[in-house]
Amino acid sequence: MKKNRDSSSRKQSARTNDRTGLPADRRFRRRSVILALGGVAAAAAGAIAWPAFFGSSQAKAGEVVVYKSPSCGCCGNWSMHLRENGFDVSVKDIDNISPIKEQAGVPYDLESCHTAFVDGYVVEGHVPAETIGKMLAERPKIKGLAVPGMPASAPGMDSPDPEPYTVFSFDADGKREVYAAF
Ligand code: CU
Ligand code: CU
Repeated sequence: MKKNRDSSSRKQSARTNDRTGLPADRRFRRRSVILALGGVAAAAAGAIAWPAFFGSSQAKAGEVVVYKSPSCGCCGNWSMHLRENGFDVSVKDIDNISPIKEQAGVPYDLESCHTAFVDGYVVEGHVPAETIGKMLAERPKIKGLAVPGMPASAPGMDSPDPEPYTVFSFDADGKREVYAAF
């Protein structure tokens, strides 16, 4: 299972993350971070629940907490896009965000570069600020939103080459629906 996940996200990274340096970063640092996180988990011996560590419980209402690789440029650009659209954003640099995606329940095929949390929702990848605002206004019964991969036209990617993309919602069972399309 672990192996499949790694190879599929690596494949996706190789296809889509060329400009970011993310694949190499994720590839080379994965093991040490998993070991480090394992050590933390062992030391905590269950005293620290994962959701308290990763989730939005410590965030202010409406604050977006972004977990990203320190070397991910488009993740920083996306965070700025949110700030420019009125969101409070807190950025957490972490060498390997795969464990966070797993913990957040992001379906493998919806994975992107960064993973964010806001008001109890997961936001995976380059979801536009307006779509996050729509979700926070409507409060749908979903786990979160995702823009899989790294579509060229999405906020934070901002490539001049247009590439239509879809924002999916997903629930705890991995069921997904089209939430918005651009
Ligand atoms: Cu990105
Ligand atoms: Cu990103």
